[in-house]
Amino acid sequence: MPHLPATSALVRGAALLAQGLLLACAAPAPAPAPAPAPAPRVTPSQAAPARTPDRPRDPHSFARPHQVVATHLDLALHVSFADSALDGVATYTLDRHDLSAPFVLDARGLQIHRVELAPRADDRNANTWSPARWTLGSAHPQLGAPLRVDLPETDAARVRIHYRARDAAGLQWLTAEQTAGAHPFLYSQSQPILARTWLPIQDSPGVRLTYDARVTVDRPLQPLMSADYRGLIDGRHSFVMDRPIPAYLLALAVGDLQRRELGPRTAVWAEPPTLDLAAAELRDLGDMLSAVERRYGPYAWGRYDVLILPPAFPYGGMENPVLTFATPTILAGDRSLISLIVHEIAHSWAGNLVTASAWRDLWLSEGITTYLERRILEDLYGRDRAEMEAELAVAALHQALRELPPADQRLVPELRGRDPDELSADIIYEKGALLIRALEETYGRDRLDPVLRAWFTAEDNAFTSRSTADFTLFLQTHLLGEAPLPGRAPLDLDAWLYAPGLPAGAPEPRAAASAEVEALAASWLQGQIPTTSLATDAWPPQRWLHFFGQLPAGLPAARLAELDRRYHFTDTGNHELLATWLLLAVRSGHDASPPVRARLRDFLTHVGRRKHILPIYSQLLQSDPDRARALYREARPRYHPIVQATLDPLLGAP
Ligand code: BES
Ligand code: ZN
Repeated sequence: MPHLPATSALVRGAALLAQGLLLACAAPAPAPAPAPAPAPRVTPSQAAPARTPDRPRDPHSFARPHQVVATHLDLALHVSFADSALDGVATYTLDRHDLSAPFVLDARGLQIHRVELAPRADDRNANTWSPARWTLGSAHPQLGAPLRVDLPETDAARVRIHYRARDAAGLQWLTAEQTAGAHPFLYSQSQPILARTWLPIQDSPGVRLTYDARVTVDRPLQPLMSADYRGLIDGRHSFVMDRPIPAYLLALAVGDLQRRELGPRTAVWAEPPTLDLAAAELRDLGDMLSAVERRYGPYAWGRYDVLILPPAFPYGGMENPVLTFATPTILAGDRSLISLIVHEIAHSWAGNLVTASAWRDLWLSEGITTYLERRILEDLYGRDRAEMEAELAVAALHQALRELPPADQRLVPELRGRDPDELSADIIYEKGALLIRALEETYGRDRLDPVLRAWFTAEDNAFTSRSTADFTLFLQTHLLGEAPLPGRAPLDLDAWLYAPGLPAGAPEPRAAASAEVEALAASWLQGQIPTTSLATDAWPPQRWLHFFGQLPAGLPAARLAELDRRYHFTDTGNHELLATWLLLAVRSGHDASPPVRARLRDFLTHVGRRKHILPIYSQLLQSDPDRARALYREARPRYHPIVQATLDPLLGAP
């Protein structure tokens, strides 16, 4: 069956620094009773990361937030398209728990010009800035370097860093030709550890801060950030994020962007040529948001907007608070790919309200979000639609489990010394979602839903960063003590979290239509029914994806050509379908046909979504390595640095 390999990079063995020191401190506070409490606002000092015995230090950040932690960022940015550079002044307000400790931030590839110190903003000497002593440690390719700022024992509560970011791996600068419109474009992608490539920051998901920003651009283009947009103030675009967020949710985009209101708190931003299509595709945005609220508590972030990026965007979507970034390839014209937006909306609860405290705990964000996504899909579009998506994803999970080494099959992997970008999406997303579904099947929705709601909204959980151990404790307190539903065995949480494979009795999503699709596929493969009578009316794309999943690896190209003649997959506007179809085409040799060949080239040179192009390149490398390398050489300049970093080792850097 066709298999989309994990989103994770194939790059292995980057010897990251191993620094997992255990912090010995107080036990975690007891978890509150599950009640649908509204999400409270926290003051910045409450946002300081809790230290618990079971929360080791984040091995992917040099920061020492238990000593000195930034609680607020004031950012002044100038975006220069003329020299593809960002000039910034980042001013941090600090909470100093250890007065003898320096302020340590993460920085990767940044030019640091100057660092200064001042007292608190409300001090009478607030505007007296003095030069600070600082050092930049030796650089690691992925982690960058620690930027250490010495602090005097007294006074200093703010640090101001003047810097420049050029060639940042977390930024993509696009020429006008690479966009939908007639202007250049810039956007950031900070997750997992790329925020540090465009600003010096304590780049750990366990550290949260509020921010405001003022942005100028060397062209008449619209900047947007993951924050409330306050318009032009004194000639600068102003943004405010007054809820504490982790660094990986800091985001910036600049382009010829226009906004279309979709509802009282929702809008879509896009380049003018894309705006109509985007607005039509996303017209249910407000309903989607309300659907999550009904189950999991009030939306805590004010507005929810979506920004449609150019097709080079390396992901499907990124849950930047207040402003989800999304690939234009979800604009299928029939709203069939909208589950991706449901996923990003759900992150406003799982991930953004309650954040995984380190990358090893990412499943808390992605796995729980994937579970919520399916629940919301079911609420909005019915059980069968949700089951179809779950079943497809679980098929990919089983494939991944056949291929991954046991250590990488754990939901909570050991990431010390490894790049967090290596995580297998199938494990983190789908095994994670199955775990929550196993809780649902064991205890029932009536008992699970309030527990999840409390996890997101309880006063001491909302706007905090949490570990898997915190979640385990929460479940033990609120759910695992209850009797399982009749006929159900208690769930082995440790096996789910720390063992490879899937525990016995793992849920098996199954859509009602699947059996019929499988039967049709079997008959078609045996030549018992003609291609023309496979689907009388239009099948939803998920059904076709399931059909594709039934096709054996050795299927002759001629049989795909038959399907193409009847159903025109090579011309489909549905990119989910197209990506899988092209993968099948390459696998069978159907890509020798000129229209398929042309479409493949067009796809690879325009679409930068790693999840779609990595499997195709991998397949092409097996069937026609010279062509794979030639296509990559042509397409590479359009790919995001993250995608280049994944593909270069396979296909060759220039
Ligand atoms: N937060 C992720 C994207 C991400 C994860 C970026 C880890 C970097 C590191 C986002 O919410 C996501 O999951 N995107 C998926 C969407 C899909 C699962 C619906 C994607 O881009 O494929
Ligand atoms: Zn996600």
